[in-house]
Amino acid sequence: MITHIIEQDAERVAAELAETLRPLSGSRVLVTGASGFLGSFFLDVLAAFNRAAGEPCRIVAVDNAKVGLPARVRHLQDDRRIAFLRHDVSQPLPEDVAPDYVIHCAGIASPSIYRAFPLETIAVNVGGTHNVLELARRSGARSMLSFSSSEIYGDPDPAFVPTPETYRGNVSCTGPRACYDESKRMNETLCVTYFRSFGTPVKIIRPFNVYGPGQRIDDGRIIPDLMKAAIDGGPLVLYSDGRATRSFCYVADFVTACLLVMMSNADGEPFNVGNDHEISIGELATMMAEVAADPPLAVEHRVSGDADYLVDNPQRRCPDLTKLRTATGWSPRVGLREGLRRTLESYREESHLAAAQ
Ligand SMILES: NC(=O)c1ccc[n+]([C@@H]2O[C@H](COP(=O)([O-])OP(=O)(O)OC[C@H]3O[C@@H](n4cnc5c(N)ncnc54)[C@H](O)[C@@H]3O)[C@@H](O)[C@H]2O)c1
Repeated sequence: MITHIIEQDAERVAAELAETLRPLSGSRVLVTGASGFLGSFFLDVLAAFNRAAGEPCRIVAVDNAKVGLPARVRHLQDDRRIAFLRHDVSQPLPEDVAPDYVIHCAGIASPSIYRAFPLETIAVNVGGTHNVLELARRSGARSMLSFSSSEIYGDPDPAFVPTPETYRGNVSCTGPRACYDESKRMNETLCVTYFRSFGTPVKIIRPFNVYGPGQRIDDGRIIPDLMKAAIDGGPLVLYSDGRATRSFCYVADFVTACLLVMMSNADGEPFNVGNDHEISIGELATMMAEVAADPPLAVEHRVSGDADYLVDNPQRRCPDLTKLRTATGWSPRVGLREGLRRTLESYREESHLAAAQ
């Protein structure tokens, strides 16, 4: 399902990057995790690029429907330049998928979902990434993005916040989040090993809390949870004291940065990608309460029934973006209040569209 906000954002990103993306014309692009939050946004941007390009690219969109919703990309089913393939990337990909560019987003990103599926989470991050790297190597791909996570830094030493790519992390290898954090670390090791051994032109993206239209509202991450509560009329409930910090990046900004990295020649390099405006979860909830209603909705603190909910939860999260800015000239453009407003409008449109079906 596409809302007018997603459509506007995807058109804007494709128009701004038209020149940068020109080499995609006539090429084959593989997107994994294509019906998830980020993968589906990449598809919408590529579809918008194709509508304007003289010679379009051909896209293979792979997902096993573990988390992503096929309904999110249903509006693209009749696009003859996109072939949808239901496939688990922890199994080898079909030989005839021979991409020039690879956007490897398949993964299980929501803490509440990956804690329920720890082995599948490890399988997609390690085996899945290995299979996709092998395909990129065999096909002689020109560029590949592999999605890691800011979670590879664990709970960082405050002296390393904002966190540069050179920080090695403070991660538990046995805690309830380890299935995700440690397998993302191995995902990165596989990427740099393929680059060093075979010259595979892979770039590693470390996303820092991306949000925006198109994310499942029942995803279990903080912004969709606040959005759902806002649509239901409140209160906005926090299952913590609200003091931990995060830095939230609007999806259109995030995808723009990723595509700039993909078209760069920074092979074998990791990049933090996010917004460096750090905000506490309590402040986020207050802002969301103001965006949703006037007078603002109530914010309540409760204790989660899930004993593992806050175990190994990082206290601070903020990227140092120096490397990304230097390599690409990119800066985030959409402020948090504006991004929350657009996201809420998109969720409201989604619920009207769903009710009308
Ligand atoms: N969104 C964020 O803030 C964020 C933060 C850090 C890292 N990431 C990483 O970015 C990538 C995309 O994140 P997202 O927010 O779009 O997540 P998402 O859960 O919305 O989408 C991931 C997609 O991958 C698919 N998938 C899962 N296992 C698969 C498998 N074995 N084979 C094929 N498809 C599979 C799911 O069905 C889903 O559609 C993930 O690797 C995630 O770990 C995202």
